[in-house]
Amino acid sequence: MLNKVDVIARILAEKSRDICLEKGAVYAPANIALCKYWGKRDAQLNLPVTPSLSISLAEKGSHFAFEVIDADKDRLTLNGKTVTEDNDFYQRLFSFINLFRGVKAFPCLHVRINSTIPIAAGLASSASGFASVVKGLDALYGWQLTRSELSILARLGSGSACRSLWSGFVEWQQGIRDDGMDSLGIPLKTIWPQLRIGLWIISSEKKTISSREAMAITKQTSPFYTLWPQQVASDLAEIKTALTHKDFISLGEASERNALFMHETMLMATPSITYNTPQSIECRKQIWQLRRDHLPVYFTQDAGPNLKVLFLEENTRDVLQLFPQMEIIQPFAK
Ligand code: PMV
Repeated sequence: MLNKVDVIARILAEKSRDICLEKGAVYAPANIALCKYWGKRDAQLNLPVTPSLSISLAEKGSHFAFEVIDADKDRLTLNGKTVTEDNDFYQRLFSFINLFRGVKAFPCLHVRINSTIPIAAGLASSASGFASVVKGLDALYGWQLTRSELSILARLGSGSACRSLWSGFVEWQQGIRDDGMDSLGIPLKTIWPQLRIGLWIISSEKKTISSREAMAITKQTSPFYTLWPQQVASDLAEIKTALTHKDFISLGEASERNALFMHETMLMATPSITYNTPQSIECRKQIWQLRRDHLPVYFTQDAGPNLKVLFLEENTRDVLQLFPQMEIIQPFAK
């Protein structure tokens, strides 16, 4: 069985070992899955059981700046603050970067990350974070990897990161190969300028259980998990048809159903897992009430209590009336 370093070595086989830029900066957007990734067929390489489909969040994401330094250890500045080696985020970031050092030795770096979304609250910060790291290393060496190659590398950091190499809608095809070379993001052509995503932040606190651990427990113990692949297949097909026809109702229904199915599947695990809080349940109810009042508004929810609300530009005023502090993202803003 291949490990992460084997995959990196394969992709970087013919690439230069010489630093090409002493410093540089890159950016990767966060993405929100409308059809979720929940469960791995290979936990080492983050190969998923099913495909998934996301929308990238334009200016919400990770700015990653690097600088080669003459020092004996790496430095990290996160949102303007120095982060030391004993911090989880530092360890997760540099253990990923060190995988590349296993293939190509490179000097210590000072990494500055500015995340425009809260870290680790189920807001896709790890997706944009790992996508920005692989883009940064590509720039450092001038490897000029294709986006597909970068997508495979980003997936090794966090599965959903493989969808953060593009703007707009991205499908992650699950692939069938053991080495995962066919498990990567594929950008879709649909452009939908009227689409809006509202971030309703209930809590920016760190999640109670990591998505990695929660996925493993769900897959192993939830009696609903056997139904998950077929649910994804039907939701994914419905979402893709909705994108082709710009059918918002169908997009919203399939996306919300898919999120609820994921959350119910983990609720049925042993031990039971929930990312909900009383406020997130209340917020779901408010959205259902809006629909009874004939406002086409839907939600999706990831590994955290925060809701991402889907609606169209024409309903912005009504949505803001109920959720005045909602941060509204235009995924197709120029
Ligand atoms: O990529 P991870 O390991 O952070 O998992 C992401 C899981 C969800 O956000 C809940 C779903 C998804 O497809 O993004």
